[in-house]
Amino acid sequence: MTKVLPSLLASDFTRLGHDIEKMEAAGADIFHLDIMDGQFVPNISYGMPVVEAISRTASIPLDVHLMTLDPEQFIDALAALGIDMVSFHIEATNHPHRLMQRIQQSGMKAGIALNPHTPVAHIQHLLAEIDFILIMTVNPGFGGQKFIDTCVDKVRTLDALRAEKGYGYEIEVDGGINQETAEICREAGADLFVSGSHLFKSEDWQEAVREMKQ
Ligand code: DX5
Ligand code: ZN
Repeated sequence: MTKVLPSLLASDFTRLGHDIEKMEAAGADIFHLDIMDGQFVPNISYGMPVVEAISRTASIPLDVHLMTLDPEQFIDALAALGIDMVSFHIEATNHPHRLMQRIQQSGMKAGIALNPHTPVAHIQHLLAEIDFILIMTVNPGFGGQKFIDTCVDKVRTLDALRAEKGYGYEIEVDGGINQETAEICREAGADLFVSGSHLFKSEDWQEAVREMKQ
């Protein structure tokens, strides 16, 4: 099922509570929270104190995207906050299967993120157990970048594989998602649409969320 996940990286941090309330009223399904450490990606966004504040204010589910080295260090704190979905980058850990299990055993949905250069084959042996796969459609680290259309092939591959093998994962796309690129990804089989700058810069958030759901 199509779900729209506004990325709070594009919100006005001086009015975060206001933007959360307004985006929920506009029909957002899940909030996407980008944690960047300045190491795995060349930018720092926000960390656990802000995630904690968001978790107190938001009433829809939260999806935390860890763009960090050593993603293991955040799992207990995220579980304690009642976070619903957590993804980590396959490029950032030596033990993805163990980390996936740990997230799931903590009561959260586990997702694996793939940078634009990383092939689906890299996560072949996780597909039967993973809850969702986050296909990066830009290089991680910044909002407002241009969609990389070669990443769409991976969405198609994952959609075909789940039909063939009966896997239960959802497919999430993140980076440069607007009305047009969402349509391309939807046709390829994506279910979860993360969108930052496009949604937050829209005149009418309700209309922008509604359009993306169709
Ligand atoms: C990029 C982040 C994205 C980002 C998307 O590293 O993972 O979630 O906020 O922003 P837009 O939609 O502006 O590309
Ligand atoms: Zn993200």
